[in-house]
Amino acid sequence: MSDVKVPFIDLKQRYEEEKDELEACVKRILSSGHFVLTPEVTRFEEAVAGYTGARHCIGLNSGTDALMMGLMALGIGRGDEVITSPISFVASTGAIAHVGATPVYADVGDDQNIDPAEIEKRITPHCKAIMPVHWGGRMSDMAAILVIAARHGLAVLEDSAQSMGAWMNGRHGGTFGFAGAFSAHPLKNFNALGDGGFLLTDDDEAAKKVRLYRNHGLEDRDTCVLYGVNSRLDSLHAEVLLFRLTRLESIVSRRRHNADLYRRLIRAPQVFIPDDPADPGGRANSYVMMIVQCENRDGLRDFLRQNGIEALVYYGTALHLHPAAQRYGYKRGDFPKAEAQADKVLALPHHQHLTEEQISYVADCVNRFYAA
Ligand SMILES: Cc1ncc(COP(=O)(O)O)c(C=O)c1O
Repeated sequence: MSDVKVPFIDLKQRYEEEKDELEACVKRILSSGHFVLTPEVTRFEEAVAGYTGARHCIGLNSGTDALMMGLMALGIGRGDEVITSPISFVASTGAIAHVGATPVYADVGDDQNIDPAEIEKRITPHCKAIMPVHWGGRMSDMAAILVIAARHGLAVLEDSAQSMGAWMNGRHGGTFGFAGAFSAHPLKNFNALGDGGFLLTDDDEAAKKVRLYRNHGLEDRDTCVLYGVNSRLDSLHAEVLLFRLTRLESIVSRRRHNADLYRRLIRAPQVFIPDDPADPGGRANSYVMMIVQCENRDGLRDFLRQNGIEALVYYGTALHLHPAAQRYGYKRGDFPKAEAQADKVLALPHHQHLTEEQISYVADCVNRFYAA
């Protein structure tokens, strides 16, 4: 690539912006001499519960663990089916497979989120839960999904890995169903200094179980009441996230502004940008990614690269077509929308540090590519 003029994301710039506060977080934790399950973790959990309106927040090691623990808290395992989206990061399906259940896909809509009408067709007597994914930060149609879940007695576990800061009808993503699983990976809006995650739930029993499970099932130092794992959110991450929660609204609004600018400036009809869901507050997207669907995607990606713009394919393979999914017997053609989108998707550079000049430059390159 020629010199990078517009990076996909710029975490070094984020460090520069927050240097004093981040270094103070590190100092506080180092000088306390305590690093695991300290009051910082509890303060983080209370702050996130307060922000999102959830009754419980449990800090964990990753979004993947949060998904697995949400499924386990529901008692989902061998012989059970979970309906989910074929468009996501592999962890959504991986979590279902890890608890021994079977992922059952339902095709997506134009917005790349699971299509409620397709969910209904996939329900069998083995189905126990629906796992929608708020892909890129755009909320799934939770109203329709909750109606279907109630009609069939199914639980809803939201893959909210990307939806911190997304609200719909006054409710935060991840608080609509039984539980919501969040990632605090560095590429998210609300990010730790490495891997991290958390689970939101209003269910007291589930919260208790997950709290035990993340810490070896230890009720106290000497009493193990169930065999769990080590999936604790480190105190350093909790302290950084506690600080970053104060920045979240501003980050989402800067990203929304950037997304609006892209929408206005990209004029090529070969590029489709899904609408954001109707929401009275206009906040039903946390804008973690700016994924467009375009003709001749690889040609555009290469052209952008030649012009110093980092655009990435998220993702070029629908989940049912990965080698690991072969055991479920899916084949090409099963989910036509997801498959067609996998050939067209391109994530444009999208972060809160982009300047209007950079966005205009990207949009101009996109328009020029199709005009040629
Ligand atoms: C939609 C989705 N689900 C699950 C995950 C897994 O989260 P983590 O990387 O924190 O385990 C991610 C992370 O990229 C994600 O984007």
